[in-house]
Amino acid sequence: MPQLAYVDGRLTPLRDAHVHVEDRGLQFADALYEVTAVLNGKMLDWPHHIARLRRNCAALFIDFAMSDAALTLQARRLIAVNGQADALLYLQLSRGTAKRDHGFPANPRPTLVMTVRRFDFHQRTAQQKTGVKVITVNDMRWRRVDMKTTGLLANVLAKQDARAAGAFEAWLVAPDNTVREGGSTNAYIVKAGRLITHPLSESILPGIARATLLRLAREAQIPIDERPFSLAEALAADEALLTSTTAPLLPVVRIDENAIGTGSPGPMASRLAALVSAEITAQTGWRP
Ligand SMILES: Cc1ncc(COP(=O)(O)O)c(C=O)c1O
Repeated sequence: MPQLAYVDGRLTPLRDAHVHVEDRGLQFADALYEVTAVLNGKMLDWPHHIARLRRNCAALFIDFAMSDAALTLQARRLIAVNGQADALLYLQLSRGTAKRDHGFPANPRPTLVMTVRRFDFHQRTAQQKTGVKVITVNDMRWRRVDMKTTGLLANVLAKQDARAAGAFEAWLVAPDNTVREGGSTNAYIVKAGRLITHPLSESILPGIARATLLRLAREAQIPIDERPFSLAEALAADEALLTSTTAPLLPVVRIDENAIGTGSPGPMASRLAALVSAEITAQTGWRP
């Protein structure tokens, strides 16, 4: 059974799945996307992903007529036909296909594509025990990275630098030395029992895993500071960590060549990892 993709209303073998050469996602990165974790066949935090997609559609004037119920049905159908219990659902919505011209076309019809790829979340359980390394790079992105668009070239280059350095992630540092977030993850430090992370703004993506972590931490009465923190502060922190859909919580034990805290995952990361795991199990039945 070949893997299937959803392209504009149809299920197509993944190897043949394509969009038009004049799709505006391809030509202008005039497109939004979402990545959702599928664990035990169930989508994690799906309503939050739909809500973020809708917010971004409104911000970019993309008129996406499909209802939440229809979108959910199509996503579930694609997951079911691909038969993977643990996977990533990728959804991309472009403004549509039209003769190349920067301004919006008249009456565009958005192009929706979705793919499901197997993903092994158990690799994260092992990484939670060892922690991961991050490097730092200058944040070269545009000013509205709160919108989840496919214009990811600066993130791609940052991730490639991380890979070349044998690191898991690159933290993107602003000209004022503030750590904003990672190339595809949100960033946190821990100091004197407080969890510190960049506040929501136009300079970071409002991660779904971030929202979940902050909710769980609040419920557990862990003090949280949503405020900018500098790279110097991060290097002097007791602990550091990151979150994303594909890495729901990982301790960061090195930043560039500097060990953070003891150089091993600390007690706050372990506590938060346990809270996140319990939430995932509650939503999907999946266990680490
Ligand atoms: C720049 C950036 N920050 C943060 C995240 C984490 O977001 P989420 O938790 O919704 O996966 C992502 C995810 O792709 C990202 O690209």
